[in-house]
Amino acid sequence: MAEDRRGAILRLASWTRSDNPITRHMVGVQPPDSINLAGGLPAPELFPVEEVRAATDRALRRFGPRALAYGPVAGLPELRALLARRFSRPGRRLGPENVVVTSGGLQALDFLGRALLERGDAILAQFPTYLGAIDAWKPAHPRHLALDWDAAPDAQQAAMQAAKFTYCVPNFSNPTGELVPLPRRRALLAAARAARALLVEDDPYGALYYDGSPLPTLFDLEAGDGGEGPYRGNVLHLGTLSKSIGPGLRIGWAVGDAAVVDAICMAKQGSDIGTSSFVQAVALELLEAGVDHAVHDRMIETYRARRDALVAAAQEHLSRRFVFEAPVGGMFLWLRARDPALDTGTLWPVAMAEGVSYAPSAVFDASGALHDCLRLNFTLNPEPRLVEGARRLARAVERHLQQPPAASGSSEDKPG
Ligand SMILES: Cc1ncc(COP(=O)(O)O)c(C=O)c1O
Repeated sequence: MAEDRRGAILRLASWTRSDNPITRHMVGVQPPDSINLAGGLPAPELFPVEEVRAATDRALRRFGPRALAYGPVAGLPELRALLARRFSRPGRRLGPENVVVTSGGLQALDFLGRALLERGDAILAQFPTYLGAIDAWKPAHPRHLALDWDAAPDAQQAAMQAAKFTYCVPNFSNPTGELVPLPRRRALLAAARAARALLVEDDPYGALYYDGSPLPTLFDLEAGDGGEGPYRGNVLHLGTLSKSIGPGLRIGWAVGDAAVVDAICMAKQGSDIGTSSFVQAVALELLEAGVDHAVHDRMIETYRARRDALVAAAQEHLSRRFVFEAPVGGMFLWLRARDPALDTGTLWPVAMAEGVSYAPSAVFDASGALHDCLRLNFTLNPEPRLVEGARRLARAVERHLQQPPAASGSSEDKPG
């Protein structure tokens, strides 16, 4: 598109042709009175603003000019050491060499792609796939293979060997909200070990369990047989402060084998040289003071009530047209149309006109083919807005179904 309009001066790389406007919409300025159910956004009223103010003051006193200087590419040593302690387990002692601090968790995915992917390489990824990951890897034009959790061990190992790495979000996947059960986690880890494959576990939602006890992560499952030497496991575990404190900090991390961490640093030095020293110093103070743990209980209470409200509203207003399961954690409700012909891409402008937005399924499929599902976020809005959002969406669906196919939205309007 942009190439057509400004082609004379702007010779865009070919990957930009598959741009989608959804992420920019999700985090952008919303039309007045529109209800944003599209973004994976936390509730801003839960952000610990006073605690961040106090932590900033302490960080500047403690680090002085160091907080405003360039720092090591892999991150502030004190923060790396803290994260290494947090992720150490009996039988798996991590050191700072196992940790790189990134500017949000998404940056780790970007840099992993830059460091590992040659044009056309394959990635084995949970399907549907986190939109940010798809975007991050686009410049390498990868082939996306869908991870089949139920594949036989031999087939799983072969699929892993055919790919540069395997990517999954076992805790409340984005977009489906799915919680991967323990036997599947164990089987995937066993296959990765047998295939000697890199297994990337992205875990931004691991603290957001609303029912039941947390399952061990793939990284947890790997602990216990590492001995006392340096960590040499198959799992690269990604985390972030975006969901536990606030995404505006843009602090994330990758924890794993030092060689993989080093590969991420190689890409990082050619991008931002290092995550903001200032924000890392503040993040260190926040984590040392346990601020993420302190806000956790209120966050769970708030999000559980919102999850319940959206699930009840979806039951009332949307179940005629969609099927879904209530998620036990995370931020999303995933709906599949009862009629597989329903296209949530062409529905999108109709929903926007009704004053509600959501994430259409095509953006979570690198091929863009998955068209009959949609993702709703339940953490950003209070309960009455969620209920009203479900009502508006139901109205949009009925309007959309009454329109002749050609009139339901041009490809210009279609998001992704
Ligand atoms: C699956 C997944 N990975 C990574 C991220 C990255 O978040 P951030 O870059 O804000 O840490 C998100 C954010 O929504 C996500 O859903």
